[in-house]
Order: sequence, then C-alpha cells, then structure tokens
Amino acid sequence: MKIGYALCGSFCTVKKSIVVLEELAKKYEILPIFSPAFQAFDTRFGKASSFIESIENICGKKGIRTIPEAEALGPSIKLDALIISPCTGNTLAKMACAITDTPVTMAAKAHLRNNRPLVIALATNDALSGNLQNIGIMLSRKNVFFVPLGQDDPIAKPASLVCDFSMIGETLMLALDGKQIQPLLK
Ligand SMILES: Cc1cc2nc3c(=O)[nH]c(=O)nc-3n(C[C@H](O)[C@H](O)[C@H](O)COP(=O)(O)O)c2cc1C
Repeated sequence: MKIGYALCGSFCTVKKSIVVLEELAKKYEILPIFSPAFQAFDTRFGKASSFIESIENICGKKGIRTIPEAEALGPSIKLDALIISPCTGNTLAKMACAITDTPVTMAAKAHLRNNRPLVIALATNDALSGNLQNIGIMLSRKNVFFVPLGQDDPIAKPASLVCDFSMIGETLMLALDGKQIQPLLK
C-alpha cells in the first residue's frame, strides 16, 4: 500500500507527526510531501532542513517539494490514501475554498480526483473561530476524513483544536473503508 504523508507548518506538532510517520513507514510505502512553510521556516521547534532530512530518511525517499511534482499524484502516481499531518488552518482553508497553490493542496486535489481517502490531522489556533466554517466544509466533502480532535488549551487558546496524532493509524484504517472514525470530538 502506498500512502502520501504531507506536512504543513504547524511546527509545535511536527515531532508528534514524525513519531506516527515512523510507525506507518514500518507497514506502508510512504511518499512525503512538504508545504512551502514546512520547507522554509526554521523555528524554535527545529530547523526545516533537519526535519526534512529525518523524514526522508524514515521514508527512504525524496519528498515532493513543488506543485508540478505533486500534480503527478493525479494521473500517474496513484496513492491508496493521503494523510495531511500536521494540517494547518491555512491549508485547511485553502482546500475548503478549492485553492491549489502549494504542493500539499495540489497533492490533495490530485489525489481526491482519484476517489481515494484524504485524512486530515488538524492543528490550528483558529479552529473554533476563523476556520470553523472550513472544518464544516471539509467534513461534508466526499472522501475526506478527520483524525479525532479536541481543545488542547481551552483557557489560554479558546479557539484552538489539535487532533490526537496517536489516532492517525486507526483513522486511516477506517478511511480506507470509506468510514469516518468516531467519536470525532475528544
Ligand atoms: C512557530 C510557528 C508555529 C506555527 N504553528 C501553527 C499551527 O500549529 N497551526 C497552524 O495552523 N499554523 C501554524 N503556524 C502558521 C503557519 O506556519 C502559516 O500559516 C503558514 O503559512 C502555513 O503554511 P502551510 O499551510 O502551507 O504549511 C505556525 C507558524 C510558526 C512560525
């Protein structure tokens, strides 16, 4: 089974995502895909180049870095599933509005065209404010599934939702069967 694993610029969750990726890579062939922010930003959570190097080592292959490379996921490279982990509010909003201007949004669009599941592992501070409508839009879209998510810090960050990264594997198994894992809310 061939799984796409796209990473966006939610830098505080990247390490959790990489732990999951290590597990998935033991079972599946994984093709990594990197958003422009993920490729470009060095933050207090780590250097972009170090994250990319370790992800490519885990997957044993070079990741997709450009829109033209990601476009091939529609017609030629067929994935069984695509996981966006972490998915930022930015990427979620773009997908909800059908904007395709990054390798990750291009990969999602190309992959959905093949009628296969897209799994979203969301982490964003504006999930219960500016992005709430976009969660609704994506929840009602065909072949789109969410990793269960909840409020990570309701007092300090009242609009923030972060998924339970440890549930990506289970979410994927059900998504491959066309089902949304429940309960969705943690
Ligand atoms: C240190 C740092 C942490 C960030 N964490 C998040 C996050 O957890 N969730 C989120 O939606 N955006 C986060 N952002 C903002 C995104 O990186 C920004 O919106 C970027 O444009 C996302 O692009 P992408 O969706 O193409 O990766 C963070 C930015 C920085 C610099």
